[in-house]
Amino acid sequence: MVRPEHHDAIILGAGGAGLMCAAVAGQRGARVAVLDHADAPGKKILISGGGRCNFTNVDAAADRYISANPHFAKSALGRYRPDDFIALVDAYGIAWHEKTLGQLFCDGSARQIVAMLLEECAKGSVALRLGNPVGEVRHADGLFLVDHGSSAFAAPTLVIATGGPSIPKLGATGFAYDLARRFGLKVVEPRPALVPLTLGGDEVLFRTLSGVATDVVARAGKARFREAALFTHKGLSGPAILQISSYWRHGEQIGIDFLPDVERDWLIAAKRERPRTTVKAVLGRMLPERLAETLAERLLASGELANLSDRILGDSERALSDWRFTPSGTEGFAKAEVTLGGISTDGLSSRTMEAKAVPGLYAIGEAVDVTGWLGGYNFQWAWASGWAAAQAM
Ligand code: FDA
Repeated sequence: MVRPEHHDAIILGAGGAGLMCAAVAGQRGARVAVLDHADAPGKKILISGGGRCNFTNVDAAADRYISANPHFAKSALGRYRPDDFIALVDAYGIAWHEKTLGQLFCDGSARQIVAMLLEECAKGSVALRLGNPVGEVRHADGLFLVDHGSSAFAAPTLVIATGGPSIPKLGATGFAYDLARRFGLKVVEPRPALVPLTLGGDEVLFRTLSGVATDVVARAGKARFREAALFTHKGLSGPAILQISSYWRHGEQIGIDFLPDVERDWLIAAKRERPRTTVKAVLGRMLPERLAETLAERLLASGELANLSDRILGDSERALSDWRFTPSGTEGFAKAEVTLGGISTDGLSSRTMEAKAVPGLYAIGEAVDVTGWLGGYNFQWAWASGWAAAQAM
């Protein structure tokens, strides 16, 4: 048997949450080892935000997160704020800009964020061990023992920071859930989120619009998002759809308002002003041409407006402002930006992220049942939950 390396804390996962936790705990004086099976740290950071990493959102508050316990994220998010991360980014001279809706991106490259986190880890003398599978994890006499390749590690603190199963080709796994269950923690059913939706049946016809994008309000249940929607060869994507996907359940409809800015009775007003025009022509002035054509064909309102009754025009307006689709599914974990669900917050302290029933065991980041909206919220949760856990070590 290999003699284990002794540390104060072992962190499983060198993603955003694990690296932040390691850096802060290390700089607070803990001897930390981070173990990962990937050959490089922060792979999701590198591909995030189209390579520019949307590293936070200035509006990150708990109501922008989905969790079985909507209050759970408040403590960590309230103590480690977007401004704290911005101060770190500024201290490294990393230039950034606000793109839209409070979303902050690097001007240069996501690599700068990974380099910054690694430098922070180095300042805390963190031992980073990559490129080997995490093997057996045991817990005896207050110590966690972890096999990693041909090495072994021992520490009184173990942090689960291995994320969720979205984008398996980047090394994502459901390891966090298996490990959590072994320690008696519950897992809220993991589901793909921030994921494109697929269309089947009659709605397959909309696939011919592949590549067309337009500004919409997308709705699922009580959730509504105003952003761009994009038709794809499989169905629907774009920020509005990704956002709504996190609230959508199989079998439910989603509603799309294709004309969020028009006034009531706009089509009837158009008939008074230009009776010889058609619905298709009116839509063509407001929407991408191919979309206008497809929608006009599907509305039972062809011919000149003068020949259409106000009732038919009113029905068309309502259809355009609440077009119903029943997605056949999602593009799954292969395309999901995040995972909904995860390690239940019931068993964790919201202040420290420590398991209430297993002293020394922590869970942070995407592995936990806290899922942010699109737009920098998920990284802010990774930073905040990692920071909160590090305060307790
Ligand atoms: P993360 O998944 O980053 O890290 C987990 C680590 O654990 C990985 O290094 C992995 O290799 C390791 N691991 C997994 N299983 C293991 C095992 N069995 N053994 C050992 N190691 C294991 N968010 C945001 O706020 N802004 C953005 O711009 C984007 N953009 C974006 C783009 C794309 C394409 C994706 C897929 C995701 C995003 N996100 C995002 C979401 C964001 O990337 C995500 O929420 C965080 O990276 C989660 O950080 P964690 O550290 O919790 O997990």
